[in-house]
Amino acid sequence: MVNRIKMKIIKKPAEMQKLIKKYKLKGKTIGFVPTMGALHQGHISLIHRARKESNIIVVSIFVNPTQFGPSEDFSRYPRPFKKDAGICRKEKVAAVFVPKPKDIYPANYFTHITVEKLSDIMCGKSRPDHFKGVATVVAKLFNIVQPDRAYFGLKDYQQFIIIRKMAGDMNFPVKIIGCPLVREKNGLALSSRNAYLSGEQKQRALALSLSLQMAKNLIKNKNVKSAKSIISKIRKTLRPHVNKIDYVEIRDAETLETLGIVNKRAVIAAAIFIGKTRLIDNIIV
Ligand code: PAF
Repeated sequence: MVNRIKMKIIKKPAEMQKLIKKYKLKGKTIGFVPTMGALHQGHISLIHRARKESNIIVVSIFVNPTQFGPSEDFSRYPRPFKKDAGICRKEKVAAVFVPKPKDIYPANYFTHITVEKLSDIMCGKSRPDHFKGVATVVAKLFNIVQPDRAYFGLKDYQQFIIIRKMAGDMNFPVKIIGCPLVREKNGLALSSRNAYLSGEQKQRALALSLSLQMAKNLIKNKNVKSAKSIISKIRKTLRPHVNKIDYVEIRDAETLETLGIVNKRAVIAAAIFIGKTRLIDNIIV
């Protein structure tokens, strides 16, 4: 379905919009994979899905400053651009959009998007402006790339729900597609931040996926339905291995409302710290 063309590396929003106009005049459909780079198998799975459904694949690589808190890892976030470009080329991406922060947020930039209710729960509690930064940059990227479909990994489950809501509320003519979380064989969810972990820390991080799997097992096979009791068991499993538990929550998988009893499709989500590295994971039951 994908056309074979030399990959373009585009830096300016206007240049990207011009190229998209050309593709659209030729009747091509655009599949978009927004990323912050440091591409791994999870990102590649999004590109593969996009390739099945669209003629032209666009990947953006932009470490978005507005979604990092003041004491977070913006400056040390990995930026292996050459390696990322190589992966995109191999995956037959038509264009990689790599703007500079000043091209996305010029001086006197004032406009932000907040998806109310959904942005100050779960990860939003300890990362107060994070989802405002995400929703704003994704809205801007949608205006620049004008995709027919956009692909997001379900590891960032809350992000996916927020972006889907934002796109609907703002009438963006784009289909938001959530793609399965990709794990290492040992269960660790793939994340660009895993690069921060030492061997010993990676071992300890396995407690996260194991505790969620254990919770799913309790619900499915042992008929435990009380969210409080499941959360307490997850916390107990995590405690000896992690430096800090940020949160463990069970919520309605569609609306993210809290659930007391797990009697409908739910997401069990958790955030922990291993050393200074914050990791998230979730499982759908
Ligand atoms: O998931 C990410 O990599 C980022 O949050 C996104 C969606 C590219 C916005 O910066």
